[in-house]
Order: sequence, then structure tokens, then C-alpha cells
Amino acid sequence: MKILVINGPNINMLGIREPGIYGKNTFADLLVLIAQTAREENLDIEQFQSNHEGALVDKIQECYGKVDGIVINPAAYTHTSVAILDALKSVSIPAVEVHISDVDARESFRQISYAGMACVHTIKGQGLEGYRQAILYLKQNYGK
Ligand code: DQA
Repeated sequence: MKILVINGPNINMLGIREPGIYGKNTFADLLVLIAQTAREENLDIEQFQSNHEGALVDKIQECYGKVDGIVINPAAYTHTSVAILDALKSVSIPAVEVHISDVDARESFRQISYAGMACVHTIKGQGLEGYRQAILYLKQNYGK
């Protein structure tokens, strides 16, 4: 099974950005967690991070016919991007939305998720562990 993990803007700043909200673990730690999960679960997992909305849309489009599942944390674009929502709908690949923080307990502008409208499942507030849970969810429900 091939999975793409996509991270949006400022996720590369993990460990530096607002550690009280996102924790002290770095983006490099997240990449290690993803690679470890791939090994343990015998999955082919690629990761992609960009601060640019169009680059995220391009990457989702590239998945068409090549990827069996998507894990996506669109970060701030979660709450603004109809383009990412439409890209996810275009490729019809099962996608799980991840948020490191508990967005429901934060500002009201974080309560809306456009990307989430195209996702089969959402994991919020579990820290970096949420990415492992999302990968396992895809394996259990869509694995082949
Ligand atoms: C986030 C939550 C978003 O509201 C925020 O803009 C982010 C990260 C999270 O992982 O908790 O950048 O997606």
C-alpha cells in the first residue's frame, strides 16, 4: 500500500513554533515517526511539505492513480482552502485529516475545515502520534 503524508505551511517549524500548542518535537522527529511506521507496518510512505497552497494542490493531483491513501495536515489552509478541498475530491483517494493540536478547543476561525469535507476521517489533538493513527486507519480500512 502506498501512502502520501502531506503537510502544509509552518509544519516544518515544529519544535520552534508555539511549543505550548504544538509540542517540542521537531519536524525531523515527525519524519522519523513516519519512516518508523512505514517500516513496522510494511507500507510505502512518501512525505511532502510545502508552505504554498498551489504546490499542495499539485502534489495531490500527482497522487491520482499512484497512491492508495493520503494523510493530510493542511495547517492554516485547512480553514481557507477550497482549492485543496477540490483537489482531494478530484483524485477520490481516501484521505485522513490530521491536526496536531485540538483545533476544536482553539479560536473560532479554526472550527471550519474545508479539507475535512473531503476526508474519510479526522484526528485532532493527538500530537505527532496522530499521524501514526491516521496511517494505521488507512491501512486497516483501505489496505491491500
Ligand atoms: C494545525 C492547526 C491549524 O489551525 C494551524 O493553522 C496549523 C496547525 C495543527 O496541526 O494543529 O498550522 O493544522
